[in-house]
Amino acid sequence: MNENLDHILSEAKNHVSSAPTKEELERLRVHYVGKKGVITSLLHQLKDLPAEKRKEMGARLNDVKVNVEKVLKLRQSELSRKDLEEQLANAPALDLTLPGQYSTSTGSLHPITRVMEEFIQIMKRIGFSVATGPEVELDYYNFEALNTPEHHPARDMQDTFYIEPPILLRSHTSPVQIRAMKNKKPPLQLIAPGKVYRADYDMTHVPMFHQIEGLMVDEHISFADLKGVLHYLVKGLFGARPLRFRPSYFPFTEPSAEVDMQCISCRGSGRDCRVCKSTGWLEIGGCGMVHPNVFRHVGYDPDKVSGFAFGMGMERIAMLKYGIDDIRSFFENDLRMLEQFSC
Ligand code: PHE
Repeated sequence: MNENLDHILSEAKNHVSSAPTKEELERLRVHYVGKKGVITSLLHQLKDLPAEKRKEMGARLNDVKVNVEKVLKLRQSELSRKDLEEQLANAPALDLTLPGQYSTSTGSLHPITRVMEEFIQIMKRIGFSVATGPEVELDYYNFEALNTPEHHPARDMQDTFYIEPPILLRSHTSPVQIRAMKNKKPPLQLIAPGKVYRADYDMTHVPMFHQIEGLMVDEHISFADLKGVLHYLVKGLFGARPLRFRPSYFPFTEPSAEVDMQCISCRGSGRDCRVCKSTGWLEIGGCGMVHPNVFRHVGYDPDKVSGFAFGMGMERIAMLKYGIDDIRSFFENDLRMLEQFSC
């Protein structure tokens, strides 16, 4: 029996350590130490041996069993490592250029912000500095000091929201003219970008929009200076285009004009043009020479200084620049629209 056991052990070691697959290894485990395996059956037969032999044989058999289990375990881990190595060798090399599983989207500037930034940069280049004023404004700055007293019919064009009279939401950036001039003696050369409010809502009007005001005051400033600056500005924003100054009315400028730019779509022909409604021209803002009464309000002498002012709606500029039809789309925050402006 002892010799037989030696034989079983060496045979098991041989077979197990050279088992080529995990399946074969499992077959060998069942064969030797499974419920009906060779070694298990021998253990069962121990009870038939005489008592003195039983003890010695028991210890011996157990020893063999432990040894066989040890080699089984060893071979098991060898085969596992071999499997892993094969898998790694056959797997495609890791491709670091593949897109990740999770992506983060990058934000971008709102088209209105972009247009305003561009506008500001263009104007800074010719010496205009940026001034700001409050959006919650006093009637005095928004109307009164701009030569628009109470009951003036021009107030109807700029119907705004009242917090509690005389406090209102500014209906244009022109009150910054007053604040700036009250703060500083001429010469003055500034732009005032910001939000303004009006009680309007349709395809081309929203209750909150953005304007940039321009103001230049010095001795001998003329309408020619105004034209020169606007030509320069439009050239920077859209490329050189003819401008047209249509006589108009604002209480705080005299003379006043609406500025039209030659249509960027039909180039002035007006033929079947949806953009300019076949007029050949696009209105881009209001302007004029600062009214003497405005100078008087801020303590400037209208006989000594003169100046021009203009105001432009940024939504209007952005709509023309990017071909957007509906002003409301700027504020709906639809990513399909906004993502077109990411850079
Ligand atoms: N404030 C005027 C408006 O909002 C525009 C304007 C500004 C006109 C400056 C003339 C001079 O309609």
